[in-house]
Amino acid sequence: MTGGPREPGADPAPGGADAAPGGTDAGPRTGDGFQTMWRDLARIGRHAPSGGYRRHAWTPADADCRAWFRAQAAARGLAYETDRNGNQWAWLGDPAAGDAVVTGSHLDSVPDGGAFDGPLGVVSAFAALDALHARGARPRRPLGIVNFTDEEGARFGLACVGSRLAAGQLAPADARALTGADGVTLAQAMERAGQDPDAIGADPERLARIGAFVELHVEQGRALDLVGEPVGVASAIWPHGRWRFDFRGEANHAGTTRLEDRRDPMLTYATTVLAARKKARLAGALATFGKVAVEPNGVNAVASLVRGWLDSRAPDEETLAAVVAAIEQAAAERGARDGVRVGVTRESFTPVVEFAHELRDRLAALLGGGAPVPVLPTGAGHDAGILSAALPTAMLFVRNPTGVSHSPAEHAAEDDCAAGVSALADVWEGLACR
Ligand code: GLV
Ligand code: MN
Ligand code: MN
Repeated sequence: MTGGPREPGADPAPGGADAAPGGTDAGPRTGDGFQTMWRDLARIGRHAPSGGYRRHAWTPADADCRAWFRAQAAARGLAYETDRNGNQWAWLGDPAAGDAVVTGSHLDSVPDGGAFDGPLGVVSAFAALDALHARGARPRRPLGIVNFTDEEGARFGLACVGSRLAAGQLAPADARALTGADGVTLAQAMERAGQDPDAIGADPERLARIGAFVELHVEQGRALDLVGEPVGVASAIWPHGRWRFDFRGEANHAGTTRLEDRRDPMLTYATTVLAARKKARLAGALATFGKVAVEPNGVNAVASLVRGWLDSRAPDEETLAAVVAAIEQAAAERGARDGVRVGVTRESFTPVVEFAHELRDRLAALLGGGAPVPVLPTGAGHDAGILSAALPTAMLFVRNPTGVSHSPAEHAAEDDCAAGVSALADVWEGLACR
């Protein structure tokens, strides 16, 4: 095939994977195992009209992804377990021996997400294990593959729930109470999916078995494309968080209420969105209102409540705090003029992550074979970032020529996926087989 990994015969994704060029004819190939896994997974949770994926935690699509993971483990004779938080693990060797080298990522998606964010890391992990066997390498340490549950937080609003719980960074009661737009709590959703919500919580013994966790991920920008390299190593993750802005005004008739008599929260919201963009630009940060809910949500009614979720990220925590404070202030000032009450709730925060230098440098040396490997920071959150507080973690990025992510246009060419698999196998071989 000449395109990147994708479901053969799939509807063309608008501007997306099917539109992007594939690898060179002479370049390395991912192999049948990778392609078969990719094709099987590509069928799950795809929303044909958008071409994107809707694999939200504890939904039927998620269950299908989880069944796929389990089947991959079984097909390779790996020991399979689901932990108390619903994370899935596949093991070669006895994890109780400790000092395991684990790789993997997540299989859930944002609403109408791309095919690669998460699944590339999981599929590449199984393919790397196959490659390791083909090389005849003999692991001296246990090898693990993981699918962390609910990484994107698309359904319950908080990202990296599975890894946060395992690392003791999320109180079980807070997790159970997380509620989706449909009114279903995380506890109810887990129960319906056959996972005991009363069992969730910190899992230090499980994490203590892991000597290193290396997450492979599609790059969510164009840094690798710009330097012409297929694979890079992560240096850091920007601090980031989610804030809920509640703009409360007064519902009223759109046809009879004079403009000067209105208390319209939509105005305050709109002004805040523009202010967020400006404050972020001035500070070299990022600020996004990507989700909004309106009450009563009628065409001919002034809104009574606009709820907007701000996602903000910056190179350092001081800058992030200053940007969010400036956005809050802009909202409050405009709210005072509009007769709108503004309430802000921080729903999550992830501090800056500086990946363990020793492991990062080791990876760079293993992959480069003497040549320098790109080392780059990212503004995206990852389970590897959450776990970095508990154990040595690192990340590999695979080139994404579109630079687009959280969209069906996200892409990686087949040759680059093959380079990622080979890099993961090199990492396993270098860390666990010598
Ligand atoms: C996860 O992809 C995030 O960065 O929000
Ligand atoms: Mn993501
Ligand atoms: Mn991801």
